Amino acid sequence: MALIEMKNITKDYYLGETIVHALRGIDLQIDKKEFVAIWGPSGSGKTTLLNLISAIDEPTTGELAIAGKDVRSLTDNQKSEHRNKTIGFVFQGFNLVPVLSALENVMLPLQIRGASATEARTQALSRLEEVGLSDLINNRPAKMSGGQQQRVSIARALVNNPSLVIADEPTANLDSETARMIIDIMRELNEKDHITFIFSTHDQRLLERVKRLVRLEDGKIVNGGATQ
Ligand SMILES: Nc1ncnc2c1ncn2[C@@H]1O[C@H](COP(=O)(O)OP(=O)(O)OP(=O)(O)O)[C@@H](O)[C@H]1O
Ligand SMILES: [Mg+2]
Repeated sequence: MALIEMKNITKDYYLGETIVHALRGIDLQIDKKEFVAIWGPSGSGKTTLLNLISAIDEPTTGELAIAGKDVRSLTDNQKSEHRNKTIGFVFQGFNLVPVLSALENVMLPLQIRGASATEARTQALSRLEEVGLSDLINNRPAKMSGGQQQRVSIARALVNNPSLVIADEPTANLDSETARMIIDIMRELNEKDHITFIFSTHDQRLLERVKRLVRLEDGKIVNGGATQ
C-alpha cells in the first residue's frame, strides 16, 4: 500500500473574484521509506502539495489517500492524529522557541503529549546526538548558527518517532554547504531509521543527494510522479 496516493488532484484558491489554480491534475504515489524532493520554482505549488499530504488542507477535486484511507472519509480528529502522530514537520524558518535551550525545544513536543521530564530529556538527548548537537544542548537558538538551528528543528521533528517527515524548504535560509549537510542528515535518518522524507526545495545543487525527484511546474508534475 502506498503511503500517499494522489489521483488527478487539483487545488484552487479563491482570491475575491480570482481563482488561482495552484495544482492542476497531480498524479503522485509515494511509498513508505522513500526520500523524495519536490523541486520547482516559486509559485509552482510545492507548499500546497505538502499541505495536502499532511492533511492541513484538502484538494478541490481528485482522490487523495493517506495510508490507504481516502482523506474525505477522515474525521477532523483522525486528521489531527495523522498530523500529530505520523508526521514530524521541519520548517524553513526553524520555528524554535527563542527562550528555550536546544534541549528544551526538542523536549517540548513530548512534554505537550504528557511525557515526564525525565523521559522527554532522554529522548531529546538521543535525537540531538543523532543530528550531531550533543555539545550545544544548553544553547538558546540565538547562540546557534542557521545550520545548527535547523538540526535542532530536525531533532524536534523526530522526537515523537514519526514515520514521515515533511519539510518545506528546510534549507532555504542556509548557505549551500550547510544545506548539503542538512540533506545528508535527513538522508542518513532515512536510511538508518527508515523514516519517509518528503521535502521541497528550489535549490538545484541539492538534487544529486536525493533518491527521487518530483519536478513541479505551474501546478503540474513534469517529472517523477510515478513510483520508481
Ligand atoms: N492561501 C492562498 N490563497 C491564494 N492563493 C494562494 C494561497 N496559497 C498559495 N497560493 C497561490 O498558489 C500558487 C502555488 O503556491 P505555493 O505556495 O504552493 O507555491 P510554492 O511552490 O510553495 O512557492 P514558494 O517556492 O514561493 O514557496 C501560487 O500562485 C500562490 O500564489
Ligand atoms: Mg512554498
